[in-house]
Amino acid sequence: MSASDAEAVAVLSAGGLVILPTETVYGLAADAGDARAVAAIFEAKGRPRFNPLIAHVADAVQAGAVAVFDGRAQALAEAFWPGPLTIVAPVRDRTGVCDLARAGLDSVAVRVPGHARARALISAFGRPLVAPSANRSGRPSPTTFADAVEETGFAAGAALDGGACAVGVESTVVSVLDGRVTLLRPGSVTREELEAVVGPLDRGGEGHRSPGRLTLHYAPDAPVRIEAQTVRDGEILLGFGPGAGDPRWSLSPSGDLREAAANLFRRLREADRERPSGIAVSPIPAQGLGEAINDRLRRAAGFVG
Ligand code: TXA
Ligand code: MG
Repeated sequence: MSASDAEAVAVLSAGGLVILPTETVYGLAADAGDARAVAAIFEAKGRPRFNPLIAHVADAVQAGAVAVFDGRAQALAEAFWPGPLTIVAPVRDRTGVCDLARAGLDSVAVRVPGHARARALISAFGRPLVAPSANRSGRPSPTTFADAVEETGFAAGAALDGGACAVGVESTVVSVLDGRVTLLRPGSVTREELEAVVGPLDRGGEGHRSPGRLTLHYAPDAPVRIEAQTVRDGEILLGFGPGAGDPRWSLSPSGDLREAAANLFRRLREADRERPSGIAVSPIPAQGLGEAINDRLRRAAGFVG
């Protein structure tokens, strides 16, 4: 059952964890400044402690108290917040987002979620909330209330139902450090959209500065086979576009990338429950939101790095 905001604030104030809806995926939230509560998140998820968390704030003013934003970080915040963009910048407040939440780094990841219920809770609580995706580490992120409760509800003192997540893949993560803007995790704010605001992204150490990118991720139990042209015996095909397999399992029968992103993790979970010999996925275009979808699929299929 869904808790009220007041119940969730009481749980957070007492050092407990809350299942939090966002527009991307459901999160497992705690007071960012409470090291014991943050430790409970790592414990519940089975998440390695070298992998830092995102601080969720209500607005750009609160973000400015947490992190040091240069002109380009500010431009990104203005263009995409509230919304599915996480900005990694030098940390300003080391106690408001504790060392454990940052995995000891001098930088901090910050975002203003697009989901009104998430912002309302952060405002009511009054301080930043860290919230990783509410899955146990290595599993697909939950995009419905029921899936979130199934994954980590055992560890939460309250759970807020915000409906199905509209975006369906985790936020885009960019770092704005030493004057360079680097894409650390593709998401629904696309590379093209970022470059329209800040110019060409730095291609140097791409993917190397986000510790969470080092681990196997998003994997259901069944083996996942990507860019499948045919279906093998006992496999379920997650199709994309007209005529690709059973429309009931399709990521998007019309070939729409937004729809495919919104369906991705839910379909992976549903397919997995059927205990198939494997999950095959049709080829997905590489551009735009396709970069994030292909990234998650490659990880689900076991290609790490
Ligand atoms: O959409 C989302 O971002 C969801 C919802 C709940 O907000 N949250 C989410 O959190 O996906 P999580 O913990 O699953 O992913 C956070 C990512 C990880 O890859 C982590 O390594 C990276 O952000 N990250 C966090 N702080 C960082 C930092 N200081 N430097 C580099 N990467 C960082
Ligand atoms: Mg995650």
